[in-house]
Amino acid sequence: MTGLVSAPSAERNQAALLAALGPALPETGQALEIASGTGQHIAALAQAFPGISWQPTDIAADRFPVIEAWRKKAGVENLAPPVQLDACSEGWAAKTAPWDVVFLVNLLHLVSDGQMAVLLDEMTQAVRPGGLCAIYGPFLRDGKTTSDGDAAFHAQLREQDSSIGYKEIEVLTSVLSAMGFGVDVTEMPANNLLVLAQRPKAA
Ligand SMILES: C[S@@+](CC[C@H](N)C(=O)[O-])C[C@H]1O[C@@H](n2cnc3c(N)ncnc32)[C@H](O)[C@@H]1O
Repeated sequence: MTGLVSAPSAERNQAALLAALGPALPETGQALEIASGTGQHIAALAQAFPGISWQPTDIAADRFPVIEAWRKKAGVENLAPPVQLDACSEGWAAKTAPWDVVFLVNLLHLVSDGQMAVLLDEMTQAVRPGGLCAIYGPFLRDGKTTSDGDAAFHAQLREQDSSIGYKEIEVLTSVLSAMGFGVDVTEMPANNLLVLAQRPKAA
């Protein structure tokens, strides 16, 4: 993959995402993005929030030329080159933490429950006390999808692999709350949700 490839979903949700995330971000600090994909979101975040240093990552190193192309286009000093990270593997938090912000868009529906458990465990350890975990994506609510399009996508994912698909929002918020995080859920366009989870200062 080379050049400035654009993901249509990232283009669609970017403005709303930045607007909802912005007020929750610190003035300065270190931010990690999990599963950066094209890197469009993190490039826009680095431009919009110059006091924060932004680190893109993805499991797929073949994404890096595209992330680099968006990084070059952004032309900012506070956006690092991408590094490889399997967010569903055990132990990465201890090696990379602490972060002021750990940010994830559109991955949970693509992993199994077991992988999500590891990811959440690592993500919540990776953020420093007082720091922010931000998770965006489509979710089930009371076990149900919220539109025909979401129902079709969820069914398609399940058909590909019965262990993946949309996750229940209540499961995510319960896990984060049980870890002592202050959890806030915001309705976003196209039935997506943004979960902002603040780690307590004295953890
Ligand atoms: C649907 S894309 C989302 C990309 C980007 N966050 C966005 O919203 O445009 C999912 C991304 O997750 C990455 N990914 C899949 N499994 C992963 C894992 N275990 N750890 C980190 N990234 C992963 C894929 O390589 C892909 O770039």
